[in-house]
Amino acid sequence: MTDDVVIGPLDLAARVDEALDVQAHAFGLSDDEVAVRRQIVLRHLTYPGARSFGATTPDDRLVGFVYGMPNDRRHWWSTVVEPYLRGRQLDHWLDGSFVITELHVHPGHQNRGIGRSLITTITDGVAEPRSILSTIDVESPARGLYRSLGYTDLARRVLFPSAAKPYAVMGAPLPLPRRV
Ligand SMILES: CC(C)(COP(=O)(O)OP(=O)(O)OC[C@H]1O[C@@H](n2cnc3c(N)ncnc32)[C@H](O)[C@@H]1OP(=O)(O)O)[C@@H](O)C(=O)NCCC(=O)NCCS
Repeated sequence: MTDDVVIGPLDLAARVDEALDVQAHAFGLSDDEVAVRRQIVLRHLTYPGARSFGATTPDDRLVGFVYGMPNDRRHWWSTVVEPYLRGRQLDHWLDGSFVITELHVHPGHQNRGIGRSLITTITDGVAEPRSILSTIDVESPARGLYRSLGYTDLARRVLFPSAAKPYAVMGAPLPLPRRV
């Protein structure tokens, strides 16, 4: 990874507003969406095994973050994707899986290996043998990054209530591979 950004454990509850500011710049969120996400993130952090890592500059500015948790079929996200995976006999991916819930890097710091480093760091420390996530179902840097880490499509055109765009669900065995 280049520049002097450091990847390390993040107290996301304490820095949720900074994280959502990164997400707003990277992903695009309205003020209303930020307010909703804030409650969701704080709730997620109470779930067993939830963990988060951040990318910070030497002056302690947060420029990227990732968080996730072991999947639980009772969680809202899992209940939405389950029928799509079950239809393809792939719903076993919902068990023993670490979910990447959010991964965002500020546009001013993208394409320098920070996103790759965040996702490999968070998944390296988990007990689950695989990882699962959803991402907007278009060709994007996120899709390219996930594929290069071994994530394959488990379902496509997945519709979340309240999201305008369809998502792809992707899964990968852990640990994620390092570049050779
Ligand atoms: C997805 C995201 C987190 C990646 O972070 P990043 O720090 O820029 O990613 P990296 O520099 O680690 O890039 C890793 C890989 O991403 C892919 N990638 C990055 N930029 C790309 C681009 N412009 N086009 C295609 N692939 C790209 C490549 O596979 C790259 O691998 P390489 O190093 O072999 O080129 C970042 O682009 C982002 O925040 N995007 C907006 C928010 C978002 O979509 N988040 C994911 C929601 S699920």
